[in-house]
Amino acid sequence: MNRFRTTLGLLFAALLLILVAGITFTVGWRPFIGPRVRRVTPRKIQSTPERLARGEYLVRNVVDCMACHAEHDWTAHDAPLLPNTLGAGQDMNILKGFPGKVYAPNITPDGETGAGNWSDDQLARAIREGIGHDGHALFPFMPYQNFRILSDEDLASIIVYLRSLPPIPRQQPATQLIFPVKYLIRTVPQPLYVPLGEPDLATPEKRGKYLVTIAGCNECHTPQDGHGQALRGMDFAGGFILDGPWGRVASANITPDPSGISYYNQSIFTQAMRTGFVVARKLNQIMPWHTYRGMTKEDMAGVFAYIKSFKPVRHHVDNNESPTFCKLCRQTHGGGNRN
Ligand code: HEC
Ligand code: HEC
Repeated sequence: MNRFRTTLGLLFAALLLILVAGITFTVGWRPFIGPRVRRVTPRKIQSTPERLARGEYLVRNVVDCMACHAEHDWTAHDAPLLPNTLGAGQDMNILKGFPGKVYAPNITPDGETGAGNWSDDQLARAIREGIGHDGHALFPFMPYQNFRILSDEDLASIIVYLRSLPPIPRQQPATQLIFPVKYLIRTVPQPLYVPLGEPDLATPEKRGKYLVTIAGCNECHTPQDGHGQALRGMDFAGGFILDGPWGRVASANITPDPSGISYYNQSIFTQAMRTGFVVARKLNQIMPWHTYRGMTKEDMAGVFAYIKSFKPVRHHVDNNESPTFCKLCRQTHGGGNRN
């Protein structure tokens, strides 16, 4: 009887060990115990005219917070902001394919429904480290993994600008992800404990790398597998599907391959970003040209210099052809059958 009990006990211990090892070496323990969270500090960010101007420029023309944290008329070519929605959030479920219901929260300084009562460091932590004011792991559709490289000064500027927005009372529902995604995303946020100085902008290419990263061009231009992971070897090669009130389009291949934009020069690029037309071809409004059009000449040149340095990837994507299956990115998009 005793021996039987010992064997059973051992068997149970062995099973437990396998389970523990299984979790440790696969998803890890974060889905169960919660994300890595840095405790917020009481630091205050000082508002200066320089920070306000820099923050407004970054938010409105580069990092594009308002693509998500404001409402737009997505049926028009320049996707204009709807009045009285700047920073008040958006129902993101206009975009098809989310694992649940996703809402961009109100980040205006309204005390009841927005960020009015969140501290500067709570905002800083949300933007660069992916932790909401209440400690929850943010769904990485909010591009905090890209924002992670924002310098302390650029981050401070963004927060100063957000604090200057007119408060709008609008309660957005909380994001509700399906099982197991709501637990798995707890592995994504990573705290930052070191100060981040000014980025290296010594060459146009380095400037472009910083801007392209914080602008999140990869979020749309690099195709993903079914779990939101970037497809290997397909950086910036397009084919990511964006289906919503703007229509169903695939992102473009923006690598310098002949199937991509090898024929581009600075003037075609700048014109595309400033007008939404590639020569005579109209770009769909889900491509945020209407945001980037306000980029300075120097930043525009930097972005183009960096894009030209991408590894060429052969991948035909053409939204003017009818969608066909593509064996490279496993999506259905125009030009898919030519890959
Ligand atoms: C692609 C869409 C998108 C972009 C771009 C975006 N956000 Fe978000 N943001 C979201 C979504 C969705 C959430 C909610 C995620 C969740 O709760 O899981 C969020 C959450 C947040 C939060 C956390 C709110 C809280 O509960 O504490 C802050 C702060 C925030 N965003 C600020 C910004 C700022 C500043 C920018 C630009 C630098 C930005 N976001 C860009 C979609 C976006
Ligand atoms: C929200 C998603 C999204 C983001 C973010 C985005 N793009 Fe796009 N982009 C698209 C889509 C979709 C198209 C295809 C539009 C079409 O075919 O009408 C496109 C097209 C383009 C084109 C035109 C290529 C051609 O067909 O000639 C260029 C150039 C481009 N994007 C560059 C960029 C750069 C640079 C960034 C970052 C600074 C960026 N995009 C960020 C979605 C996005």
